[in-house]
Amino acid sequence: MKDYKTIKKNTPSNSNYRDEFKFLLNKSNTNYNIFPKMRLRRLRKSEAIRDLLQETHLSINDLVVPLFVQEGIDKEVEIESMPGIFRFPIDSILQEVKEIVTLGIKAIILFGIPLKKDNFGNSSFDQKGIVQQAIKIIKDTFGDKLAVISDVCLCQYTSHGHCGIIKDNRIDNDRTLSILAKTALSHAKSGADIVAPSAMMDGQVKILRDILDENNYQDTLILGYSAKQASSFFSPFRDAAHSLPSFGNRHSYQMPFTNLREAHREIISDMEEGADILMIKPAIPNLDLIYSAKQNSFHPIAAYSVSGEYSMIKAASLNNWIDEVSAITELLTSIKRAGADIIISYHAKKMAEILSNSK
Ligand code: PBG
Ligand code: ZN
Repeated sequence: MKDYKTIKKNTPSNSNYRDEFKFLLNKSNTNYNIFPKMRLRRLRKSEAIRDLLQETHLSINDLVVPLFVQEGIDKEVEIESMPGIFRFPIDSILQEVKEIVTLGIKAIILFGIPLKKDNFGNSSFDQKGIVQQAIKIIKDTFGDKLAVISDVCLCQYTSHGHCGIIKDNRIDNDRTLSILAKTALSHAKSGADIVAPSAMMDGQVKILRDILDENNYQDTLILGYSAKQASSFFSPFRDAAHSLPSFGNRHSYQMPFTNLREAHREIISDMEEGADILMIKPAIPNLDLIYSAKQNSFHPIAAYSVSGEYSMIKAASLNNWIDEVSAITELLTSIKRAGADIIISYHAKKMAEILSNSK
């Protein structure tokens, strides 16, 4: 038998998988590195040992709750394709936020659903608009206890449901930018901590940073929806937020899900334009992108586990086909394991309950 020192000497010092495999191929070494000497089940021997060795810990601090606030309703309305998720009138939003804060959650992301829509999404920057009102009363009530993120897009505000302004049947990137900028400024004025441009227009982060700085909102953060893919998993959201495009699709602005290299360019451009946090969306189909964005930048990485990801789990659990508690624990922990620092999820409240019960 060779002793440990000899083994060590023959083992490449900066050992990686490939070196280990090469080492193992040398038959005389096998006794030391594989079964029966090596038994990985030792690591799982008892619950105490498993707890001790747990590598990834999901925390309540990681979670963000998406909230819909709707103009012109007087009580909350459950979203048909998202059982357990509601649109709130302004009058009951505080009660909901209070529950969220009591659970120990640190952030929400707000979506407004206005009564008025037009071709240009003009109601999106109405200082008295539904989302502006909601931001204000939430910040007035909870102050710095809760970070308020506001989604900045036009699709809930345009009569055609697209995220930008249409000219000659195309989405006009640069004309859209100025409306997004006005919208973000109106959110910052209402007290939003973080504005999140989600229209996938080129230059949207830069124009937001410029207008915020010019108006003394240097401290307002920008969460870029950096790599947002045209995804079938958004469809329950469009039902929730009344933002289904009345014609065509979003493929000329949202990313194709086939393209990882292009997604990295989107992420790099948001970094260069001044985004404070980079977001990838949807989450579960993009664990590879979350991982590589985390490895290749020093920015905080957010992942948005979208409406369809929620509805799939919810529908299966309502049918007793899967166990909701263990399924969401597994999926949200996997998103964290891939590298997400922040996870936006419709399961966030439930997940926070699970986490505080397991303490
Ligand atoms: C608006 C927006 C969408 C989502 C977040 N912001 C919808 C879309 O792009 O169609 C999707 C969120 C979800 O599915 O939960 N641009
Ligand atoms: Zn949009």
